[in-house]
Amino acid sequence: MNILITGGAGFIGSALIRFIIQHTEHQVLNLDKLTYAGNLESLSIVKNNPRYHFSQTDITDQNALSTIFEDFQPDAVMHLAAETHVDRSISAAGDFIYTNILGTFQLLEASRLYWQRADKDKHSTFRFHHISTDEVFGDLNTTSNYFTENTPYAPSSPYSASKASSDHLVRAWYRTYGFPILITNCSNNYGPYHFPEKLIPLTILNALAGKPLTVYGNGKQIRDWLYVEDHVRALYMVLTRGTIGESYNIGGHNEQKNIDVVESICALLEELAPTKPNGINKYKDLITYIKDRPGHDVRYAIDASKIQNELGWIPQESFNSGLAKTVIWYIENQEWVKNIQTGEYQNWIRNHYNH
Ligand code: NAD
Ligand code: DAU
Repeated sequence: MNILITGGAGFIGSALIRFIIQHTEHQVLNLDKLTYAGNLESLSIVKNNPRYHFSQTDITDQNALSTIFEDFQPDAVMHLAAETHVDRSISAAGDFIYTNILGTFQLLEASRLYWQRADKDKHSTFRFHHISTDEVFGDLNTTSNYFTENTPYAPSSPYSASKASSDHLVRAWYRTYGFPILITNCSNNYGPYHFPEKLIPLTILNALAGKPLTVYGNGKQIRDWLYVEDHVRALYMVLTRGTIGESYNIGGHNEQKNIDVVESICALLEELAPTKPNGINKYKDLITYIKDRPGHDVRYAIDASKIQNELGWIPQESFNSGLAKTVIWYIENQEWVKNIQTGEYQNWIRNHYNH
C-alpha cells in the first residue's frame, strides 16, 4: 500500500511512521509543514529507508495537495497534521482554525477528487483515516461514566472545538459523498519524542533542570494516559480492518490525576537521576501550583470496548513501565531535546510560565 501520512514529523505521526516502516512493507509519504512541533530528527531511524518519503507541505495548500496525490497515488490517507496544544489554542486560536478546520477541508477535497477519479480497484479499497481526540466530547465529572463512540460532542477549548469541527466535516463527506472514512478518538498519549510543552515531557525536563514543576489549579484533573506505541498499533488496525464510516475510541484504561503523574515522575527521577541541580533536595520540592487553565476539562476517560471487541486491540504497556521508559528516554536523548528547545520554544515557556 502507498500510505500518505500528514503530520508525520510530530509526536504520534513519527511513532506511526516508525511502526509502519519497521513492521510492514508499505510505502509512506510523510506530508508535514514542519511547524515548531514537527521534527525530522524523530524519524532518523527510518529516513534512509527507500520506502520512506517526505514532502514539506502545508495541508491548507490545495495546489500542492493535488500534485502530491497525482504523484504518490495513495491507497490510504492517515490524517494527523494539526495544531495540538490546548494552552496555545487559548492564547491564539487562529492557526488552529486554519490548520485543523480549513486544512482538513482541503485534504478531504483533494482526497475525494482523487478517489472519484481512481480506477475501480483503488476506488473500492481507498480509505481516509482521520485521527482525532477524546477532547471533542468535553469532560466527565464523575468516576462512573466514560466516553463512548455515541457520547455527544461538547468541546471546551478552541483546540477541541477545531478538532470537533474537523470530525464533523469528515463524517459529512461520508454521508454526502459516500467517501470511505474512518475516525479514531484517542485519549492522552505519552512516550518518547513528545514535544516538551505537554505535561509529561515538560515535567521531566523541568525537574532535570531544577525548574518549577507547574501544576494547574488543584492538580486533581484526570487524564487517561496511553503509551504512544499502543496508539499507533491501534491506528494501523483501524486503517486495515476498521469498518468504513465508523469511529473508534482508543484509550489506556489508565486514569491518573495530574498531581499523581507529576509525583510519579519525581519518584522515578529520584532513582534514575539521583544527582540533582544545585540546591535541589527532592525533585518533588519543585512542584508549584499555578493559575488554572481557562475552561480546564476535569476528567477524560475512554470506554475502548468497541475497538477491543471488534478488532481485538488492547493496550500492552502498563503506566508504570511506559512512564519509566519515557523518563529514561529523555535522560538518554538530551541531543534531541536540545535541538527542539529553539527560540520559539523558549519564548513560549517564558511567556506562558514566566520562567
Ligand atoms: P504534534 O503537535 O506533535 O504534531 C503535529 C504535526 O503536524 C507536526 O509535525 C506539525 O509540523 C504538523 N502540522 C501542523 N500544522 C500543519 C499544516 N498546516 N500542514 C502540515 N503539517 C502540519 O501532534 P501529536 O500529538 O502527534 O498529534 C497528532 C494528531 O493526533 C493530532 O491530530 C491530534 O489532534 C491527535 N491526537 C493527539 C493526542 C495526544 O495526546 N498527543 C491524543 C489524541 C489525538
Ligand atoms: O486527550 C487528548 C489530548 O491530550 C490531545 O488531543 C491533545 O493534543 C494533547 O495535547 C493532550 O491535551 P491535554 O491538554 O490533556 O494535555 P497537556 O499535556 O497539555 O495537559 C495534561 C494535563 O496536565 C491537563 O489537565 C493540563 C495539565 N497541565 C499541563 C501542563 C502543560 C498542568 O497541570 N501543568 C502544565 O504545565
